[in-house]
Amino acid sequence: MPASRIIISPSLLACDFSRLAEEIHRVEEGGADWLHVDVMDGHFVPNLTMGPVIVEAIRKCTKLPLDIHLMVDHPEQCAQSFIDAGSEMLTLHIEAEGVATAAKLVKALRHIKAAGARAGLSVRPRTKAESLKPFLSQLDLVLVMTVEPGFGGQAFIPEVVPKVAQLRQWYAGDLSVDGGINAETGRLCRQAGANVFVAGTYVFRAASCKQAIESLRSNP
Ligand code: DX5
Ligand code: ZN
Repeated sequence: MPASRIIISPSLLACDFSRLAEEIHRVEEGGADWLHVDVMDGHFVPNLTMGPVIVEAIRKCTKLPLDIHLMVDHPEQCAQSFIDAGSEMLTLHIEAEGVATAAKLVKALRHIKAAGARAGLSVRPRTKAESLKPFLSQLDLVLVMTVEPGFGGQAFIPEVVPKVAQLRQWYAGDLSVDGGINAETGRLCRQAGANVFVAGTYVFRAASCKQAIESLRSNP
């Protein structure tokens, strides 16, 4: 059964960081439900972005829930710092080195929940839905990457859509898609069962971020 609520989570990676607070307020006023924060370590993905000090600054600018996407090899080592910085949700990658065994992954998920945050798990485009199956009952969010993680502004990979549909058959909670999402690709994902839409370029580079957010929300 699909989760009925629709959540729009603009990805700050595409914002103008020289005006971070204004950019946050712009999407907040535009109707964003969550704020998506892409954390990259230069190892798990070939890009470096932001850490807990920036999340702490973001926290001061908004009351929106912070949806932290950890594209890092050792989420188990940094999760607590992001929770202390004020994050509501932490999503780690099943492919990350530090959670390579089921025992380590479950331990990291439990740690996040015990600290009072929601725990999510993400998969790269080539990782199969089956690999998530054993963990679904412990998750508050599933995030399906619809581009290779690492950079904003990439083209949506349509071959990932059947994986979204498969996961929706197994999982009734929040099912998120991230990468190359716009009104058109968002609709394909919604039809497959996604209910959380992460969008960077489409929202922040739009003439009207409010219209972009509305187009994702009211997609038929
Ligand atoms: C990519 C990030 C995405 C990215 C999406 O690794 O996880 O959240 O910011 O950006 P767009 O919407 O521009 O593809
Ligand atoms: Zn992301």
